[in-house]
Amino acid sequence: MQRRLLIPALAIASPLAFAAPAAAQGTLNLYCSVQIEWCQAIATNFTRDTGIRVNMTQRGSGESLAAIRAESQNPRGDVWFGGTGDPHLAAAEENLSQAYESANNAALHPWALTQWNQSGRRAIGVYAGAVGFGYNSELLARKNIAPPTCWADLVDPRFRGEIQVANPNSSGTAYVIIATLVQLMGEEQAFDYMRRLHPNVNSYARSGTGPIKAVARGETGVSLSFVHDAVTERNAGFPVAYSTPCEGTGYEIGSMSIIRGARNLAQARRFYDWALTEPAQRLGFEAGGQLQQPSNRAAPLPPNAPDLGQIRLIEYDFAKYGRAAERRRLIERWDREVGSLPR
Ligand code: G6P
Repeated sequence: MQRRLLIPALAIASPLAFAAPAAAQGTLNLYCSVQIEWCQAIATNFTRDTGIRVNMTQRGSGESLAAIRAESQNPRGDVWFGGTGDPHLAAAEENLSQAYESANNAALHPWALTQWNQSGRRAIGVYAGAVGFGYNSELLARKNIAPPTCWADLVDPRFRGEIQVANPNSSGTAYVIIATLVQLMGEEQAFDYMRRLHPNVNSYARSGTGPIKAVARGETGVSLSFVHDAVTERNAGFPVAYSTPCEGTGYEIGSMSIIRGARNLAQARRFYDWALTEPAQRLGFEAGGQLQQPSNRAAPLPPNAPDLGQIRLIEYDFAKYGRAAERRRLIERWDREVGSLPR
């Protein structure tokens, strides 16, 4: 009789025994600007590995920067993971993030550390990806439209109403595309090009991946996207293919920053160290289905991921286009001269 009574007592005691040390590890407020599947995978795995609870908020890169700026007097986030590198550089310049040197820096590709040095040690590269064209091969074949291979193709009347791209106010992807065109063509010609592209654009989506998801669903023929996001859709079974522009293209150094005034600084540093490890960087593909180039040299390029070494990349000037004033100026010019044009 006594033994039987002991069993439920133990059963009740044991979950508490596990819960107590986890609770003692505290909480991390994570702002996350990669796709939701990856954000959820890193939150779950970080909690499993460390016992630290994670409150995760997923937003686009531009939206995360705006939130961090708005909260700067009373920061609510501790660490900002992912999203294009330019707004992380702007955050560093605006003193919205703080410097940190991880022991794991030694394991990273040089481009990840270039970002760290250029940001005054406030932002570090966690992945890289190139801009290109995603398209629905079935839809284009049905409409008898040849897929685009060059920037010059996109302004052709055959793509009238057939292209989707994101809005640079919310999306870091869209800003990388504008900065790429400015670097390829010069600013006046790039804005002229974007105005000529406008009649072919059916919508400026809020998030960088909105357009490629619309391609996957067959709602639009072509998107301007990071090409790794096209492979994610193809792997999910959609008739999606991609090409990279013949004239050359830009790329992102997806980044991570610790927010200035982080209330959970020890947990933020623990996360930052963890996110740079090889097992954590494998999660992007293995748990999140994402196909960027990881910044940890030991983390493999996922199968069928775009190989940046095979793509004609421009010498993207991160220092210039990551400057807060330059970013603001180009986005305001886009709002005035492109985004507000009638259809
Ligand atoms: C996707 C891409 C990332 C990119 C991010 C930017 O998640 O896979 O490589 O950094 O979009 O998102 P945004 O909505 O800011 O364009």
